[in-house]
Amino acid sequence: MNLTLESNRTLQRVLANTDLSELSTKDQLVFKQRLEENFVVLFSLLHQVYGQRYDFYYFLQQLVHIMKGALKQRSHKLKQQDKKRLNEPDWFKKENMLGISCYVDLFAGDLASLEEKIPYLTSLGITYLHLMPLYKSPKGDSDGGYAVSDYRQTDEKLGSIKDLKRLSDALSEAGINLVLDFVFNHTSDEHQWAKEAQKGNAEYQDFYWMFDDKTVPDMYEQNLREIFPQVRKGNFTWCQEANKWVWTTFNNFQWDLNYSNPAVFNGIADEMFFLANLGCDALRLDALAFIWKEMGTSCENQPKAHLLIQAFNSCLKIVAPSVVFKSEAIVHPDEVIKYIDKDECQLSYNPLLMALIWNSLATRKTKLLTLSMRKSFEISGDCAWVNYARCHDDIGWTFDDTLAANLGINGNDHRHFLNQFYTGRFEGSFASGVAFGENAETGDCRVCGSLASLAGLEKAIEHDDPQLINHAVARVLMIHSIILSIGGIPLLYSGDELGLLNNYDYQHDPSKVHDDRWVHRLRIKDSHVNNTKKLGTPNQKIAQGLEQLILIRKHNNILGNADTDFIEVNNEHVFAYTRRNDQGQTLLALVNFSEDVQRLDTKVLTQLNANGVWDLISKEIIDCESSDMQLLPYQTMWLVADKA
Ligand code: GLC
Ligand code: GLC
Repeated sequence: MNLTLESNRTLQRVLANTDLSELSTKDQLVFKQRLEENFVVLFSLLHQVYGQRYDFYYFLQQLVHIMKGALKQRSHKLKQQDKKRLNEPDWFKKENMLGISCYVDLFAGDLASLEEKIPYLTSLGITYLHLMPLYKSPKGDSDGGYAVSDYRQTDEKLGSIKDLKRLSDALSEAGINLVLDFVFNHTSDEHQWAKEAQKGNAEYQDFYWMFDDKTVPDMYEQNLREIFPQVRKGNFTWCQEANKWVWTTFNNFQWDLNYSNPAVFNGIADEMFFLANLGCDALRLDALAFIWKEMGTSCENQPKAHLLIQAFNSCLKIVAPSVVFKSEAIVHPDEVIKYIDKDECQLSYNPLLMALIWNSLATRKTKLLTLSMRKSFEISGDCAWVNYARCHDDIGWTFDDTLAANLGINGNDHRHFLNQFYTGRFEGSFASGVAFGENAETGDCRVCGSLASLAGLEKAIEHDDPQLINHAVARVLMIHSIILSIGGIPLLYSGDELGLLNNYDYQHDPSKVHDDRWVHRLRIKDSHVNNTKKLGTPNQKIAQGLEQLILIRKHNNILGNADTDFIEVNNEHVFAYTRRNDQGQTLLALVNFSEDVQRLDTKVLTQLNANGVWDLISKEIIDCESSDMQLLPYQTMWLVADKA
């Protein structure tokens, strides 16, 4: 089939049957022009997924209709933003970018109060705010909001959609990009679609994966992982009302959507446009690896998942081209990379860097980190990593076993060690973490804990040991120095900037006790912020050190849009990389992952090709004449040529 020909033909037919008169003359032109530019791609993607269905054309027509409606709803201000960002596609690569993610209720109480916290965010330098899911969701356990009952209503505790719109305006006024969750792999079992399915409405039962008995589920089950083994065995839940088994990858009340049904694609696209029109700059694609199910496979990272995400992206290019996608693929590094493309997800979490920073801290060795970054860090110049150390989820050790094996590391054994280390079960470990999702059969688990607790501050304070406290503070700053300089958007996790420790209260809350991730989902109190002003406290040292690193980042464009190369140095405890930009600037980052002083050959400074070298952080000049140089425990240097 000649795709271009068929696509053009289809577009002409669809447009002949679409009344554009509701759109302004200008919007009619824009809509037609964007369709001309993007429809071939959209058509070809959807054709690969749904082309075999006799009703394919019907759904295409419906989709164009939905897009028209969404463009009509888009505000003038957002349309201006669309225009602006089309001329500035690299906005997210600049050195001024700094992200934070937080829960509205834990951070501020509600949406209106969050508006009052904008000065705090701007004083920190934040330009990207990820608000954890704030949509209507079941009372009690809602997986922290990731079980959505209505994408068009906010959780009433937090305020209304009107409040959210106001907040979005206020944020944009303050130069802060808003990031919202696009939870599109599943809905809650209280979503209207799920309720219809429960009543026996076949149309909506087809929105989910429902089965009369266990035969087919058991066939799928042979190749599936269990994501929350503490909740349930297997991936299916019995639904009494419908008298059927339902696919539930996560909690029992999170029903996986059936994307083999084009009605689901269109329905979710409609919800996506609603979110885009609220004024967000990026959508975080939650659990995107799971959206396509294919018998005989793990049902993760399937080729058709990519086609669908590209199709959603191409819809956005027609309706809301300023909005970018952020991938939340916490999977094997080779699979993470596949979601990153200018036509798929322009941004992506960097789970490999996150996991390996913690690995290097535990082992005090950087080889696996360096080799892994060499293999997996480079992505398209149109895209950017979102580099983070902690988030609202657990830490999974998603490194590449083959690469580890080259270094004599057995992946499974090593994961076991890391779990032991970070749950504090390993003799001599500095970390206070909690095991998550322990699999009774395999002994597998993942790790939860706040950044400061995992980095040793909790234990150090328990032991009231000033040296251990200093080490913990130094680790916290060192970790942040990496995400601030390695290339991409650094993303803080609310509470970590204040050095907050684990909170074990969730263990007494029946709606949370089975989900240990609550140990690091912390309520931020004014007293926490005030503590960072008490001279000499660890919180003050963390907050102040971080503030300094952020300032340096913002004032040096070599820390923004620049290439990164990972280099080997003659010391296994030191992690090293260069940044080079097209203005001819170079930065050399050296990071000591151990609590001992480390020596390095000054030959490494030839990377900078300069007569004099100084460190942006300590402001010290480095003696290039001497044959070696030293890094203090957990010290980071950001070295640049001395212009003087
Ligand atoms: C994502 C979220 C996680 C949630 C899961 C199911 O991984 O980050 O918190 O449990 O999706 O929505
Ligand atoms: C798994 C999933 C990831 C999710 C996490 C929640 O790691 O791959 O998407 O965030 O579980 O715990």
